[in-house]
Amino acid sequence: MSNQKAEFSEAEIAVHWREEPLISPPPQFIGQANLTDPAIFERMSLEHFPECYREYADLLTWYKYWEKTLDTSHPPFWKWFVGGELNACYNCVDRHLPGYRNKTAIHFVPEPENELIQHITYQELWVRVNEFAALLRDFCGLKKGDRVTLHLPMTAELPITMLACARLGVIHSQVFSGFSGQACGERIADSQSHVLITMDAYYRAGKLLDHKKQADIAVEKATQEKAPPGKVLVWQRYPGRYSAETPPVKGRDFIVNELLPKYRGQRVEPERVQATDLLFLMYTSGSTGRPKGCAHSTGGYLAYVAGTSKYIQDIHPEDVYWCMADIGWITGHSYIVYGPLALAASSVVYEGIPTHPDAGRPWRIAEELGVNIFHTSPTAIRALRRAGEDVPSKYHHHFKHMTTVGEPIEPEVWRWYYNVVGKKEAVIVDTWWQTENGGFLCSTVPALKPMKPGSAGPGVPGIHPVIYDDDGKEIPAGTGKAGNICIRNPWPGFMQTIWGDDERLVKQYFARYCKDKNSKDWRDWPYFAGDGAMQSSDGYIRILGRIDDVINVAGHRLGTKEIESAALTVPEVAEAAVVPIPDEVKGRVPDLYVSLKPGVTGDGALAQRISQAIETQISPVARPRRVWIVPDMPKTRSGKIMRRVLAALSTGGDPGDITTLANPEVVEKIRTQVAQR
Ligand code: WT7
Repeated sequence: MSNQKAEFSEAEIAVHWREEPLISPPPQFIGQANLTDPAIFERMSLEHFPECYREYADLLTWYKYWEKTLDTSHPPFWKWFVGGELNACYNCVDRHLPGYRNKTAIHFVPEPENELIQHITYQELWVRVNEFAALLRDFCGLKKGDRVTLHLPMTAELPITMLACARLGVIHSQVFSGFSGQACGERIADSQSHVLITMDAYYRAGKLLDHKKQADIAVEKATQEKAPPGKVLVWQRYPGRYSAETPPVKGRDFIVNELLPKYRGQRVEPERVQATDLLFLMYTSGSTGRPKGCAHSTGGYLAYVAGTSKYIQDIHPEDVYWCMADIGWITGHSYIVYGPLALAASSVVYEGIPTHPDAGRPWRIAEELGVNIFHTSPTAIRALRRAGEDVPSKYHHHFKHMTTVGEPIEPEVWRWYYNVVGKKEAVIVDTWWQTENGGFLCSTVPALKPMKPGSAGPGVPGIHPVIYDDDGKEIPAGTGKAGNICIRNPWPGFMQTIWGDDERLVKQYFARYCKDKNSKDWRDWPYFAGDGAMQSSDGYIRILGRIDDVINVAGHRLGTKEIESAALTVPEVAEAAVVPIPDEVKGRVPDLYVSLKPGVTGDGALAQRISQAIETQISPVARPRRVWIVPDMPKTRSGKIMRRVLAALSTGGDPGDITTLANPEVVEKIRTQVAQR
């Protein structure tokens, strides 16, 4: 509760933000847009729900048409397109062959600039996916419903592996390659994956990293959790050459590129799966406990990402589309791989960091490939802006459309994106959604609604947001008050469950505002997103951030609990509390407070060890800005650590009323300590 209070005071500050003026989309954009008919909002109104979502499902090719659009018999486990059969790989690859065989499906851009870009056509993608699917089936014995963990970097092999799994009906679970071996191992164990698929090495910020060593740590961790994967498949970053220092483990690790020649020319019939069968798991941090495996369906998910890619991303088959995110996050699954490929677009996969070797790199790539749709996060935009405000102006790229996603964007930063990156030629959409959701929830429809810097916009067609106060009363638009954003209706992209934990799905997303838990009417089950938001009178929504204790660092969602647990693995640490601190580039960074066990004293070396523990157990992105070793934590009388007070001390703010604390005197001590730095 203390955290929600802290965030609410932040929300209250936000109401004093000034309303930004609206900016119209350029006429050239409107002239070519996929969606210019305002009747879409009527067609997808609640009155036509749920049948309106046929329009999205009809973008796909079905082996068998569905019988029931929405089954609500087991709330809130909504089932979409029940009885329908399809294959995601077929929809993203095979069906494009007659029309687009020789068109590029994936442009793979290696980080080293002297390495040639690979242009993989739909035909070549089809061949490579078939051969790898044959290997997965015949060498690994994988079949429909099995789970496989991927710990792959941003190379063409990642979408190839995902699509090969999808072809077989195997559920893939890609773990962000920047996550540690331990984090990967935990996810292998949670999903009970049969196989781990990784790569020997990849480039990041100019260095060829030994990635295979993470696989060894991952297997060790999964083994500790009594769920070792049977096999480890290792792709080579340079086919024919092993690039990691860590050697393969005999009998356990197999080099994909050595096995593949045996599967030359093999073709695998796409598995017909039910619309409700799972396509993939995507782990995301929650406020408590272990990461949640968001389990996404095949039919509903694919229909939803195809629909939103077409109407919100405005993807046409002729477009060269670059989503500069990592496929290890949901953004990459939905809007690098499944959405764009379902529409036969050419999608860019870039291996490295945006500022390597300098901040002009994204615009050189855009120029070379003729990218016309560009998609990235406020963090990346802030970093590029800091590295050189006028750099984009030196290049001759032209975007028709740009996207921002992952966290709120400051209007100042938005304007730089619009004026300098987009040269005032591109329409911008600010898309708000979450891993759990599969696809966009709030955004403007680019040819139909004007842009407003800093606001995501209204719900996308078919999504009906509502903002509730703490008591469940609707906060009307235009009152300037913030509350909890919810979605009134189900939609096809929402996950089926949290892997292995149905109960947690109900508790986390529906219990808060459920009107009647015995009801089978979806109207009684609004989806609680966990973000604070406010709606201005024109219906545009400004997202204020998480209301639970998850920290969004540079677009990476980290659980405070995860970080605190990692800190507590250092033997000297007694208590740990993480608070989010605003950061100019990353949005938020964690500040860590620890108190030590009695009789132990701490120094810089200990702080260093704690940081290191977090880095190895979670990721370098979770590394705290500061580790404060404090004499005690400010606590309530019931013993709860008051993170709100710590957050105020970290930012030099007012901790508010501390008289009810069990140990108010400690606040002054910490304040002095923090001020001395
Ligand atoms: C959280 C979800 C959705 C893919 C990337 C992150 C924040 C996301 C926006 C936006 C303001 C945003 C929310 C949300 N968020 N997009 N356009 N404006 N905030 O996915 O890791 O599941 O994080 O990111 O707080 O709840 P995720």
